Amino acid sequence: MTRPNSKIAQEVAMRRTFGIISHPDAGKTTLTEKLLLFGGAIQTAGAVKAKKAQRHATSDWMAIEQERGISVTTSVMKFNYRDYEVNLLDTPGHQDFSEDTYRVLTAVDSALMVIDSARGVETQTEKLMAVCRMRNTPIITFINKLDREGMSPLDILSDIEEKLQIECVPMSWPIGMGKRFKGVYNLYKKEISLFNPGEDSKPKDVITVKDLSDPVLDTLLGSQADELREDIELLEGAASPLEMRHYLSGSQTPVFFGSAINNFGVRELLDAFVEMAPAPSPRATTTRMVSPEEESFSGFAFKIQANMDPAHRDRIAFVRICSGKFTRGMKVMHHRLGKEITISNATIFMAQDRSHVDEAWPGDIIGVHNHGTVKIGDTFSAKEPLKFTGIPNFAPEIFRRVILKNPLKLKQLQKGLTQLAEEGAVQFFRPVNAPDYILGAVGSLQFDVTMHRLKAEYSVDAIYENVNFGVARWIRCEDPKKFAEFEKKHSHNLARDAEGHLTFLTTTEWQLGFVEEQWPDVVFLKTREAD
Ligand code: G4P
Repeated sequence: MTRPNSKIAQEVAMRRTFGIISHPDAGKTTLTEKLLLFGGAIQTAGAVKAKKAQRHATSDWMAIEQERGISVTTSVMKFNYRDYEVNLLDTPGHQDFSEDTYRVLTAVDSALMVIDSARGVETQTEKLMAVCRMRNTPIITFINKLDREGMSPLDILSDIEEKLQIECVPMSWPIGMGKRFKGVYNLYKKEISLFNPGEDSKPKDVITVKDLSDPVLDTLLGSQADELREDIELLEGAASPLEMRHYLSGSQTPVFFGSAINNFGVRELLDAFVEMAPAPSPRATTTRMVSPEEESFSGFAFKIQANMDPAHRDRIAFVRICSGKFTRGMKVMHHRLGKEITISNATIFMAQDRSHVDEAWPGDIIGVHNHGTVKIGDTFSAKEPLKFTGIPNFAPEIFRRVILKNPLKLKQLQKGLTQLAEEGAVQFFRPVNAPDYILGAVGSLQFDVTMHRLKAEYSVDAIYENVNFGVARWIRCEDPKKFAEFEKKHSHNLARDAEGHLTFLTTTEWQLGFVEEQWPDVVFLKTREAD
């Protein structure tokens, strides 16, 4: 890595901030653990899973998570690898929390996609990929579980290309799979890495071959040598070479093969990742692009997490630094509130711990303690009023009406729902002509968590009632007269969201289409930028 001149440019150049996208069970946790082992952030395998279990035991509302055996939380893990500082933003695998995952993806500079070789592209990966495409996030692909029988490598690649509309460029190629898995051939270095189950590859397991006709191949691989030769010949005719600009714009993905559980192919993946993946990139605001190398500090909150420490009932806003240097005790402008705040006790997250941070740089994530003053999407900067864009609210797809068991708890309900909506845990809507609270979510587990937290944290006893809504759209109209007409005609379908934005609620997409046709001047939006 050539070192740029200024201190900030140096710090930026050595940072890699990324997330892993995958369908549950593809091996994200296993791969995360191996990456952390290489980064020296943990010492023993099993620590990430153990940490998960410990979190279950200590956090009360996460009892839900424990019951269902899924991970609800998102955490940030920082580790060093070679000259690089790597920030890995973990994402909840369960699709009911996909909104959270979408927002985490707004804070990364690139992503690693893990695919199970037996299952190919699965639904959750497709959804996450669609989000990555919104921001042209560069993606490196890891095809996992080669130690098991799976689809043929060519079939996996065409599955990815077809379903995800991204061109695959294999960087390595597997030699057999399942019981016949011998290792991978690195197409660029012309090296064979031999597979020894359960062991990290040692230098002796990496064999350089002059070219594919090298007889050493036959000695090492027996009859599989010719299979490899045929595969590579086929590939060379079909695959395009990797072009960095295509990778960086998200239209090509370099592909690696391996087995996370056996630690096979992981080091190669990590080496390629730190070398290829982009350093923190410029970010758009409503007024201009902000370069990470600007001296002046800026950042935005992409995630709020409550009850990280149940003893303190705290809320932590995860802030992605976009430019400048952060120092402890720094005063920054909280632009939505129009006031200056001092960030005295920011936290940085290591794999197994969190510690106070004295300084941090673009690409780093800091945790800012707050008592309800930070919302997702909030921007902090030194002086200039900035507002980072691209942090979306997604229209919910399922709805419930909240019925209080004790009507005297209305105030607590209001407070609880407002805070939960600020965290992005759930959305709520107040119909314009009824005093109801309608909750909206993308996945039904969000409702369970909301009810659990309302009771545990706000002493609100409530139940849900089904409502006849299945679609929500935020609405806008340039023509006030037409809008007034629309509002009058459809008042029973109108509600205000937590931030007061007018929303159209209806039963089905079909019904929505019908109304859209009738009111061409009204715009119906599926996503809304955070205020
Ligand atoms: P996730 O976070 O993406 O949901 O997946 P996770 O890493 O938890 O892995 C899902 C399952 O796949 C686990 O098995 C894990 O051990 C297994 N796995 C991960 N990588 C590989 C691999 O390279 N080869 C094979 N054969 N299996 C792999 P499990 O039985 O569900 O859990 P556990 O009892 O092993 O923890």
